[in-house]
Amino acid sequence: MYVAQPIEWTDRGVVMLDQRRLPTEEILHTYSDYREVAKAITEMVIRGAPAIGVAAAMGAAIGVQNSSAKSVDALRTEFDEICATLAKTRPTAVDLFWAIERMKSRFAELTAQTSDLVRIKQAMVEEAKLVHLEKKSTDEAIGRFGAEFMPRDGQVMTQCNAGALATAGIGTALGVIRVAFEQGRKIHVLVPETRPYLQGARLTAWELHKGGIPLTLITDNMVGHFLKSGKVGAIVTGADRIAANGDTANKIGTYQIAVLAKENNVPFYVAAPISTFDLSIPDGGHIPIEERSSAEVTQIQGVRIAPDVHAAHPAFDVTPARYIAAIFTERGVARAPYTQSLAALAATREPALSALK
Ligand code: MRU
Repeated sequence: MYVAQPIEWTDRGVVMLDQRRLPTEEILHTYSDYREVAKAITEMVIRGAPAIGVAAAMGAAIGVQNSSAKSVDALRTEFDEICATLAKTRPTAVDLFWAIERMKSRFAELTAQTSDLVRIKQAMVEEAKLVHLEKKSTDEAIGRFGAEFMPRDGQVMTQCNAGALATAGIGTALGVIRVAFEQGRKIHVLVPETRPYLQGARLTAWELHKGGIPLTLITDNMVGHFLKSGKVGAIVTGADRIAANGDTANKIGTYQIAVLAKENNVPFYVAAPISTFDLSIPDGGHIPIEERSSAEVTQIQGVRIAPDVHAAHPAFDVTPARYIAAIFTERGVARAPYTQSLAALAATREPALSALK
């Protein structure tokens, strides 16, 4: 089945599929400067929490690879600047900071072992490639755990795009749907368009259509109507940051879907890797919410649809844990109380925590 490739490490540089141009054009860009990678993250050439993490890891690696530093100390100074630049790109998705921290620890480990710059550069590139590879296996494990919770025959709603484009694997929420579909479940996906940036209409509809998974595109204000119909068996979304108590930040509009799900007795699930956990914050009130340009609300792909007024654009909202029926991760399924189940999942090295189901 078709799986989109949003990012690839190549000898020429980091190749990204420009998600701003989908679904009408499939354009690839090759970046050989870490500043270009940072700009691509900020400007949404690549987006989606885990994919942003992969891009940051590759950005850090390309920065180190192309450095002209002549000593480890000079390279360290440059590396700090590279990491600081990448960290300023998008504030909500914690995978970004997770990936930067991981590249920093590898750098510290390597520079403690050797002053051979060629070896350090090669090993940093290998680490970034490993981050990418791990995302693929992580998504597959999330998919296997989550598929069990999907209806055998019925509608499943999602929000935004938590597919291959957003993770560089098979997707988290869409990975769950994909695995369930491949298992033979007769799933029909309801895809809210996800204003203002239209990740649902442009990206999720494109991915599902290419993958041969049946879908119906709906506008965001149809969500309540469809949830009341009794035909939706489950909702599954991705996440940008999950606080210690299970409160979850995801694309703007997710919170209202979760509230409507509760009202209509439809289970609302979150699918996310452990790298999306932020156990350093007690609850969702501490999650920074990115405010994006109001032009993304007043215009659609450069075409003005509103007068030149101020428009609000919080890019994410926080769904309180009480609305979340379960969180699917690569190590198992967490249920309330999340403070205990998330900490237990984060602490284990092994998958299949069936006790948490
Ligand atoms: O602004 P975006 O497109 O980066 O937002 C993406 C989302 O909100 C996704 O649902 C989330 O990152 C999970 S992706 C697996």
